[in-house]
Amino acid sequence: EALQALQPAMEQAVKAVRAIRSEGFSKAHLSKDGTPEHVYFPRQAYLAEGNPNDEASVKRLEELGASWKDSVDAAVFIGIGGSYLGDKVIFDLAAKPYWNQLPKKERNGYPQIYFAGNNVDGVALQGLMRQLTLQAQHVKHPLHIQLVPISKSGTTMEPLTSFAALLNYMKAHPEWFTIDVTAVTGLDPKESLLFRLAQENNWPAYSIPEGIGGRFCILSNPGLLMCAALGYDIRALLEGAREMSELCLATEGAENPALLNAALKYLAAEKLGADIEVLMGYGDTLQCLGAWYVQLLAESLGKRMDRNGKTAFYGRTPVVAVGTTDMHSMTQQHQDGKRNKVIQFLEVEKPAETIVVDNPFPKEKAFALYAGKEMNVLLQAALKANETALTEDGRLNARYVLPELAPRYIGQLLMFLMYSIAYEGELADVDAYDQPGVEAYKRIMKAELAKG
Ligand code: PA5
Repeated sequence: EALQALQPAMEQAVKAVRAIRSEGFSKAHLSKDGTPEHVYFPRQAYLAEGNPNDEASVKRLEELGASWKDSVDAAVFIGIGGSYLGDKVIFDLAAKPYWNQLPKKERNGYPQIYFAGNNVDGVALQGLMRQLTLQAQHVKHPLHIQLVPISKSGTTMEPLTSFAALLNYMKAHPEWFTIDVTAVTGLDPKESLLFRLAQENNWPAYSIPEGIGGRFCILSNPGLLMCAALGYDIRALLEGAREMSELCLATEGAENPALLNAALKYLAAEKLGADIEVLMGYGDTLQCLGAWYVQLLAESLGKRMDRNGKTAFYGRTPVVAVGTTDMHSMTQQHQDGKRNKVIQFLEVEKPAETIVVDNPFPKEKAFALYAGKEMNVLLQAALKANETALTEDGRLNARYVLPELAPRYIGQLLMFLMYSIAYEGELADVDAYDQPGVEAYKRIMKAELAKG
């Protein structure tokens, strides 16, 4: 019933997102019937599967990956927020566990991957420098390092300071390092310090197109460069994203998966007081996907809004949980705490690998419960039990199911989540693409730093 009442708003939301996608108009400049009125900001690329997905861009990335294969020892991705999380998600989902410890052959010749610039943390950065130095000393020849600073604005404190420190340190030690730099940034030399540096130093630069917030750019250059670095199938990832994009734009009713997801979450928030969403992926590799989603939800929907001339507030507090790990902690609160949560499960039906639990304790009846079963069967049993317990108590929950962690399904899932947030922004009438709250602290901090 509530969903039916929301149908006109759902139709309007699809029209608005379609217009943003195809015409590049801001929501703020759509007339009431959804017609674009005035060019404001080119947001046509904000969901980013369209950019870059042309043959030339994909080829350029594939060639980059091929040129790193067998030649680059380690790539350091240096970014924060949306310029970090997308890369980390792709890394976690695409790279084999313990990637950096594997012999190069096991990595098919692709480099070790490190992250920096996700904080201003001298301890962590010193640790990384020490680790790379020890490696070089161990192999007794200089490591070939790719530094990959990623910053859309090209001026962000954390990646820029970490990049500068790494660059200087490595330049000062040619006996341990040879360095290349590949920059990923907005291509406006007036705006992006990083782009100016790339021009001056002849570093290759990959664009982050205007109109893409960092949190929406996982399927554009920042995320795709990580695919290239790992030899991951960019085409299949983008194909999945395109399939989902078409599905999420095709219809204005409940058969549109992202629209339905957005509508249910919106109703849960507005009618049932759900102001927390827990994304609980089953399996360790899904943890960072949860962190990426936390940013997507918090920064896109946590907004002030004007409702009938009064300031109101929208947004759910997103929380990452991992099954089964957090069933031994947070589940207590999910099951018995305040009824203010949506628990969103994420399941991978067929894992890349599994283990059948051996039975070294045949006399123990208690262990017979687990013996002989595949670990992923146990994982699924735990998820099902969690879901059933919540449902039996009338607690809001839902499950996304991925057949497997293949690039195509990952592309579909990422795109689905981005569309869901875009639609919820429309339903709640908040601008999902700005972040004035983040900018507020940046202004204060820069003014303070400028005082010296
Ligand atoms: O989603 C966003 O826009 C932010 O999280 C940014 O990605 C983050 O602040 C980093 O900004 P930049 O890429 O300009 O360095």
